[in-house]
Amino acid sequence: MTPLQHAALTLDPAFAIAEVDPRLYGSFVEHMGRCVYTGIYEPDHDSADGEGFRGDVAELVRELSVPVLRYPGGNFVSGYTWEDGIGPREDRPTRLDLAWKSLEPNQVGVDEFTTWARRMGSEPMMAVNLGTRGIDAARNLVEYANHPGGTHWSDLRRRNGVAEPHGIRLWCLGNEMDGPWQIGHKTAAEYARLAAETAKAMRRVDPSIELVVCGSSHQRMPTFGDWEATVLRETYDLVDYVSLHSYYEQRGADRGSFLASGANMDRFIESVVATCDHVRGAGQHSKRLNLAFDEWNVWYQARFPGEDNLDWARRPRLIEDEYSVVDAVVVGSLLISLLRHADRVKIACLAQLVNVIAPIRSEPGGPAWRQTTFHPFALTSRHGRGSVLRVEPTGPTYETSWMGEVPVVTATAVRDPESGAVTLFAVNRSQDSQVALDVDVRALPELAVGSHLALFDSDPEATNTADHPDRVTPRRLADVKTADGTVTAVLPALSWNMVRLGSAQG
Ligand code: AHR
Repeated sequence: MTPLQHAALTLDPAFAIAEVDPRLYGSFVEHMGRCVYTGIYEPDHDSADGEGFRGDVAELVRELSVPVLRYPGGNFVSGYTWEDGIGPREDRPTRLDLAWKSLEPNQVGVDEFTTWARRMGSEPMMAVNLGTRGIDAARNLVEYANHPGGTHWSDLRRRNGVAEPHGIRLWCLGNEMDGPWQIGHKTAAEYARLAAETAKAMRRVDPSIELVVCGSSHQRMPTFGDWEATVLRETYDLVDYVSLHSYYEQRGADRGSFLASGANMDRFIESVVATCDHVRGAGQHSKRLNLAFDEWNVWYQARFPGEDNLDWARRPRLIEDEYSVVDAVVVGSLLISLLRHADRVKIACLAQLVNVIAPIRSEPGGPAWRQTTFHPFALTSRHGRGSVLRVEPTGPTYETSWMGEVPVVTATAVRDPESGAVTLFAVNRSQDSQVALDVDVRALPELAVGSHLALFDSDPEATNTADHPDRVTPRRLADVKTADGTVTAVLPALSWNMVRLGSAQG
């Protein structure tokens, strides 16, 4: 018999954190490895549409439900010449991509990507190159993309077949500019000045845009904290969001620490919020700056040989991590962390979308399938819309070497304002015990019944592959019912769970 532990939480609509910004469920398409070429785009594929984009992948992207797609990088953008990717395809140059030591054929560029993203139901989030380029290239790109016509760049767009402006609202001022690996790496002071002046010029072209300034590449950077403070002192009133990036992986056999990744994400978000609010106070700014967690995921970086060991291939197989049940549970817990901070995290991008550390995999000329991580993401994106309720689970904890003592159960709840239905997302980090989670719903007497889906498996290392694409999928468990103001859901050991509570009438 699997041992049983107990945990509890209370749902009360009086304690709401924030409305979920749908842009919390974004993803990321970088010109890296096989994300674009043989990922979203493969003109010779049986399912390709008239523009060369794969139909089978597009179907999965729509199912994943990603309201925002960041593009075209990532490290790639810091060496990118966006003008290479416009106009007749046969005239576009093949370039050395210094970020990933690959060949970039430029067969997909701003026009194709933006048009495709909109067809996927996604808004593009465009990064500009502040590595090898700067203000001029950035303001020209805004003019090309967003100005209606009658100028050099907007008329060029029209001649290239895009009569209406793309209307790209979200823009990133470079990528990971604090990282020594970044082409055109800068000190905080150098980046802060460039970001500020680029922001001003881009907004002069289109005042309606929203801007994301680069925070640290990750929280272990030696400049973390100071970087954000220096950059924000210079740009606070010029930008709308500061970025965060974080990747998680299991180190050695320490699965307990890996399962605590959400606790680390909580701490990271809260540290960046503190820095933003410090700069706000010290600079007497009235607005409150929000966060764009525009790269996050599980990534087994220890397995990546490093850029220097690559060899200028076309669409190389780079970081095509195959995700397990444990990885999916961690991804689910990271989504819970993002939702628990929905008052300040307004944008987030699961990095990346296809093949490159991605929820969707595809083979050239072959099938496309859902990785294990696809499921918690798609279900949270679909059902985690509305108002996030503050929930504070009580229950058992366990000790980790990385994050100290962490709760066994992490959870959040989202209430649909129209139907009143509440969706509870919960992760049981225990590797050997089920947890009976008592949910006090006395403040929501209309909640009577609920369905329970869970992702777990007797083999925590099980994965989905081209041959067994549905080896791991969420399973429907017994429905739950309210009794004496409490709903009890039993969370299997090492599981991600979604419990949808509604009225008896449905
Ligand atoms: O997503 C892969 C890479 O990770 C991105 O190019 C970079 O921004 C980050 O370091």
